[in-house]
Order: sequence, then C-alpha cells, then structure tokens
Amino acid sequence: MTTPTCTPRLPVMIGSWNAIPAIAHAAQRLQGNTPLLDAIVDGIALVEDDPDEMSVGYGGLPNEDCVVELDAAVMEGVSHRSGAVAGLRGVRHAARVALEVMRRTDHSLLVGEGARKFAALLGFPDENLLTDRARKAWLDWKANLSERDGWIAPDQAASSFGTARWAGRTPHGLTAPEMLAPDAPPPKVPFTYGTIHVSAVDAAGNLASCTSTSGLSYKIAGRVGDSPVVGAGLYTDNSVGSAGATGRGESVLQVCGAHTIVQRMEAGDSPTDACLFTLKKIADRTRLSHLRDAKGRPTFNVTLYALRKDGVFGAASMHEGYEFAVLDGVAPRAASAAWLYPKD
Ligand code: GLY
Repeated sequence: MTTPTCTPRLPVMIGSWNAIPAIAHAAQRLQGNTPLLDAIVDGIALVEDDPDEMSVGYGGLPNEDCVVELDAAVMEGVSHRSGAVAGLRGVRHAARVALEVMRRTDHSLLVGEGARKFAALLGFPDENLLTDRARKAWLDWKANLSERDGWIAPDQAASSFGTARWAGRTPHGLTAPEMLAPDAPPPKVPFTYGTIHVSAVDAAGNLASCTSTSGLSYKIAGRVGDSPVVGAGLYTDNSVGSAGATGRGESVLQVCGAHTIVQRMEAGDSPTDACLFTLKKIADRTRLSHLRDAKGRPTFNVTLYALRKDGVFGAASMHEGYEFAVLDGVAPRAASAAWLYPKD
C-alpha cells in the first residue's frame, strides 16, 4: 500500500510522476519562507519551462491547429480561494497566471484571449510556445490522421521526434504518460493527456495545490479538460486535505474527481481508498464502447492523488504500473501508485 502506517512529518508534498523537480524546488523555497502556494507554483514553473516535457507549458503538444493552449489552476486551503486559466496561448507559466487570477481578481477562471490579455497586463512575456519537436510531432499526427486527406507520412523513421525519449520516461514504455491502458498498443505518434499536479501541506498544517497542462494533444481548439476546473483537476479544503488528477480529463470532469476524493477523505476513507473509490466511479460510468476494452475496462488511464491534512497520502491509477512523486522527508522520490485494474 502507498499509505504510510504512521503520520509523516510535515511538510509533505505529493504529485504526478513528472513533478519530482517541482517538488524538490518547492521544498527549497518553503525552507526559505516562501508561502506554500507560491513555492508550489515556482516548482511547477520549472517543469513549464522544460521543452522536453511535452504535456506542460513551453514545448507542450499543440492543438489540432498546431497552437499550444495551456490550462492551469491553483487552490489555497487557508483562504479557500482559487484561480485558473484555460485555453491560454502565448504564455508559458500558466500556473503563475492562475495564481495572479486568484490574488488580483474577484474571479476564479479566465479563458482564451481574456486570460492572455490579463497576463500581458501583468507583464508576462508573450512568446511562441511551439518547439520544433512539438511541431514535428504535430506533423506526424497530421500525416497519420487519414489515408484520404492530402497529408502523407513521407518517412516515419526519419521523423526527428525521438520516441525513445518518451519510452524512457514512463514506467511501462508507452510513448507518453497518462495516455492509454498499459496493455494498449503504442500509437504511431506521441499523444498525451499528461499533466503536472502538486498537492502539499506545510509545517503549520495549511494545504495548497496546483495543476498545469497543455491538455489533450491535437485537441479541438478551445477544448478544456479537468485541470483548470476546481473540484475536478484539483481541490483543496484546509480542514480535510487536498487532491488532484492527471489523465483523461473528460472522465475526471464527469465525476468531479478531486472534490469526490476530498469528500471521501472527510467521510473517513484513507487517501488511497478515496482515490480508488473515485476511479471505480469513473470506470463504472464509462459507458461508451470506444472507451472500453474487451473486458469492459476503460481503455485510458487516470491517476489520482490525495493528501490528508495530517500528511498521510496516497495515489491510485486506473491501471497498474504508474508512479507518483512524493516528498515526506528530505528528498523527493517516486512511489508506485495503487491501481484499480492489474496487468493481465
Ligand atoms: N488531464 C488533462 C486534460 O485532460 O486536459
């Protein structure tokens, strides 16, 4: 089990598999007396800056028009406030913009052009977030989309997108994290629902969370998943705990994923059990046949993260084989998530 038997010493931070550098940086900032949410957002900014992390920030995989659109949200337990942006173009630090929405406005979610203008007014630089690698991945996607359109894949092998890099970054050798069930065949082109999430509790017992993503790769322009939606991609209640989600956002939205986890913890579930309950709810309500395999299991993955106010934590995935990041001592580490469906 991932839930520790004794209560960890605070602070404790948990997050998605790709959040280890974010958590390490956030812990350092916390030691320097940076407020908890600012420390988390600073940590996530490091990952938003990484061009090789193609599910978040600069270098994230683009939408079907080859434009990068970012979603992010923050939530602070002590004030029970939140801020979010969705469909944000041209600004890599989406989580920082979400934090400004929380701090500088009486609103909780800004979208599209409004979010971009807001960021510009605050001095966030406007830039092209599309890296060469992401553009080439989009070209591969476009070329493989249909045999009946004008696009062809001249030489997949010569594609300068390195799939080996993706394979090395996931526990099961899939081409992208949070994409498909572990037994699903890898797609021809990089594809992801990947996201970064961090939930944390500081030494005073205050909680905060942040989720940031470039969302579903090659999505219809304007598609927004769970990440910037409070109660779905993240939820923090200072009297209970904090939760977050990565993976197929549509499914998390439809069960109010993060809020459900926190409610279950409030009712007495352990963090791991609260995640498993929510995953079962998603699985039971996945009714469309194209989303179910021959055994009726979801063909996609979702990973859920839960942190109780006392520092006890857990994480669970729809399918076996996923990891999450945790800091409950000196250094962050990867830990195995519990799962709903074992590998065959
Ligand atoms: N969980 C990220 C998304 O679906 O957009």
